[in-house]
Amino acid sequence: MQTLNVDLADRSYPIYIGERLLDNTGLLRRHLRAKQVYVVTNETLAPLYLPKLIEQLDGLQVNSTVLPDGEAFKNLETLNRIFDGLLESRHNRTTTVLALGGGVVGDMAGFAAACYQRGVDFIQLPTTLLSMVDSSVGGKTGVNHRLGKNMIGAFYQPQAVIADMSVLETLPDRELSAGIAEVIKYGLIADGEFFEWLESNVPDLMARDPKALAYAVKRSCENKAKVVAQDEREGGLRAILNLGHTFGHAIETAQGYGVWLHGEAVAAGMVMAADLSWRRGAISEEELQRIVRLIERAHLPIKAPADMTPDDFLSLMGVDKKVLDGRLRLVLLSRLGEALITSEIEDNLLQETFAACRGDESMAPPGAR
Ligand code: NAD
Ligand code: GLY
Repeated sequence: MQTLNVDLADRSYPIYIGERLLDNTGLLRRHLRAKQVYVVTNETLAPLYLPKLIEQLDGLQVNSTVLPDGEAFKNLETLNRIFDGLLESRHNRTTTVLALGGGVVGDMAGFAAACYQRGVDFIQLPTTLLSMVDSSVGGKTGVNHRLGKNMIGAFYQPQAVIADMSVLETLPDRELSAGIAEVIKYGLIADGEFFEWLESNVPDLMARDPKALAYAVKRSCENKAKVVAQDEREGGLRAILNLGHTFGHAIETAQGYGVWLHGEAVAAGMVMAADLSWRRGAISEEELQRIVRLIERAHLPIKAPADMTPDDFLSLMGVDKKVLDGRLRLVLLSRLGEALITSEIEDNLLQETFAACRGDESMAPPGAR
């Protein structure tokens, strides 16, 4: 097992990465405040992992909410089911919420923990690659609104993140690829050496080589923890973690939540951000091609949906959380392995990017690949 630390003064916490960690009772119990535990999971994961987890919590009061599965349910209505369950089973302020699932469960359970009785402890038990490398670390929690992704939420840090790598055995291939999108992101924004490692090792990741996956999770979490420690509430720097997300969130919202996976939308969004960076002279054409190739080799989309016009993008990008005083801000590359946040966006170049990155009618939707 490897242990990293997210350094946030009195809100610091460990990230444990290893095999069969859900079987490790001591690890989990070490972070419980009292005898009440509330598990939030979904209908796909409950049959796979909930009985085992409950077994580890013998002697405690364990209750759970099993949510419907999917991004389409990441909303206030579904969130209320968690509050109903917590209240009906009389959980008090010393309870600990366990988020057993991917980013959807983690973001919702974390937000529920932030709100319930004005804040109770929670522990992330991420089960997707994406949630291990990104959403379970850093304390962003929340739900979607019909007018925008993740628009209702809170910064709220967990007590611990326990990434049991063995649960990835049951993760569908498409979800694995979606997680690799966020892994590639770290190489692009902060870690050129890791980008090169990914160019050599993406086949091993796709083949689920345990060593390669554990290395990718560790290196991604190290990169994320470093950024979060410097800028927990996204006053500035943390926004670089959103490379490709402004375009990607527009794709997710326009297509309907869950039609394109978050990681797929981010992948196409990163191609758009890289394309614009190239047009601004920050990276070479060869580097742009390397980025596009790596994303393609991870079986991720490299074009935006054919039915999205530049106006669709601009109107949806206008509700992005990075918009400041009505001005769009984008995360772009200053070079391969380094990002910048800018509101100085040349409209003509952005239009060229929209045109160059728009898929054609023959493009299969990601789920059909
Ligand atoms: P997800 O939570 O929807 O999980 C993907 C699918 O895989 C689901 O159907 C789930 O039931 C299934 N699944 C999960 N683990 C499994 C396993 N081990 N075996 C079999 N099936 C499994 O999607 P995700 O990609 O994990 O997360 C995406 C969400 O995360 C989005 O809502 C996004 O906004 C959010 N996100 C949040 C942050 C953050 O910082 N909080 C960062 C990135 C993404
Ligand atoms: N996923 C972006 C962030 O955590 O800031």
